[in-house]
Amino acid sequence: MFPIRLIRSRVFQLSLLASAIFGIAAVAVVATLYFSSVEAVTRQVEATIDAEIKGLSEQYRQFGPVGLIRAVERRSRQRSRPGAIYLVVDPGFKRLAGNIAAWPKEEPDARRWVTFAFRGGGAADGPAAVKGEARGRMFRLPGGFFLLVGHDLREQQRVTARTRETLILAGIVAILFAVASGGLLSWLVLRRIDSINRTSREIMAGDLARRVPETGRGDEFDRLAQSLNAMLAQNEKLFLGMREVSENLAHDLRSPLGRIRQRLERQLSPSLSESGRKALTEEALAETDRLLSTFSAILSIAQADSGGPKRSFEPVDLRTLLQDVADLYEPLAEDAGATLARALPDRPVTVQGNRDMLFQACANLLDNAIEYGAGAGDPAQTAVIDLDLDTAGEFARFTVRDRGPGLDGEALERARERFYRADPSRTTGGSGLGLALVDAVARLHDGALTLAAAGPGLRAAVQIPLDKRPPAQETAGGTGHEAAGAAGAGPG
Ligand SMILES: Nc1ncnc2c1ncn2[C@@H]1O[C@H](COP(=O)(O)OP(=O)(O)OP(=O)(O)O)[C@@H](O)[C@H]1O
Ligand SMILES: [Mg+2]
Repeated sequence: MFPIRLIRSRVFQLSLLASAIFGIAAVAVVATLYFSSVEAVTRQVEATIDAEIKGLSEQYRQFGPVGLIRAVERRSRQRSRPGAIYLVVDPGFKRLAGNIAAWPKEEPDARRWVTFAFRGGGAADGPAAVKGEARGRMFRLPGGFFLLVGHDLREQQRVTARTRETLILAGIVAILFAVASGGLLSWLVLRRIDSINRTSREIMAGDLARRVPETGRGDEFDRLAQSLNAMLAQNEKLFLGMREVSENLAHDLRSPLGRIRQRLERQLSPSLSESGRKALTEEALAETDRLLSTFSAILSIAQADSGGPKRSFEPVDLRTLLQDVADLYEPLAEDAGATLARALPDRPVTVQGNRDMLFQACANLLDNAIEYGAGAGDPAQTAVIDLDLDTAGEFARFTVRDRGPGLDGEALERARERFYRADPSRTTGGSGLGLALVDAVARLHDGALTLAAAGPGLRAAVQIPLDKRPPAQETAGGTGHEAAGAAGAGPG
């Protein structure tokens, strides 16, 4: 009637075990009560018999054997003594008086007590058919007579038999109840576990969007479902991200590799001049360099995402760092027809971080500003690229702003995705990893990258918590851009 699974379930076994322990304790208590009540009834029977014997021996002392026989006959007839048994026999065990048929065959114990089978049908009345078991005491009287005084045990045996039956019945009911409640319990638990199992099988079969259903009761299973679902959502996101990255990677690497192959192939042509061969080699090398830089960008992003560089964080002064990056990019900006306008504070702005990664992040922003913002603006106006550093509250923030076409809508949303390029034809030189790296570096430093349309141009800002360790004077910014550094500029 029970499926095997239910019986093999741990919940079922545990609930049976609990019922068994409870059952054994209950049986022990009831059995103790039962045996002590049987004992008490037996004591009472023996006390009644002893009282009878006392009365009869009194008769014997006063009136001799004849008096005793009379007393026995009288008492045998009395209805007020239910269950009382008497028998007097002569030395040849012939019945002289009493209410049972014959002297019992059973041997008495040392105290002359005996439990014996009897048949009714004494001289007085009593249907001959009455049969049963009794307990009594035997005496040998002077002159060879024997006296037996006892008590019919049938009533007592009926009561104990009924008690026994009740106990057995109660035991059976308890076992059925334990099995049923164990079954119900494990069915309820298994149902919930099954739904988790089903969900995980569906997910393994490829349906990543599946979630463990919640009942809304807020019980432990719901809490388990919630944390599993949170984990599944995160895994799904990571998995989809990984898939997109690898698809994009394959897509982006195919064309340059194809071009390299093409150039190598053309070099095999015998008619190729020495200068032509050299040009092809240089082109192939340039492609290879681009591939290598794509790979190192991917690796840097992965490294920043792993959080590993956090272990080697050190105080970094953003002011000097930005100065260095600006020095490096100034000539490039000029080549592209733009000027780099720096607005840096006159005091150090220290954060805890990885110098090389912060440097790379700022370089990527300047790189974009020059590539996308410098040449594309109004040619009549000299393109200006702003590089600012300031502090606000507990954060340092550096901003790169150009005056090019900028980004808006979906492009603005997606610009920081790996391999995303706003130009759908993907003809521009970039690999679409620059902003992804800036974003990863910002997150590594517990900060954030914000991109905003600056009309005209794009404003890219990286915000990083200030280093709280040095004294307050380092965290207070004096930028001239905004009233930063006044309030909450670090624990003073
Ligand atoms: N300052 C900007 N003005 C306009 N568009 C921009 C600007 N910066 C980035 N973009 C757009 O966002 C896209 C993503 O920029 P990102 O720096 O991540 O990649 P990339 O410049 O194409 O390549 P990489 O930086 O890896 O060489 C760019 O392709 C460009 O279309
Ligand atoms: Mg870029």
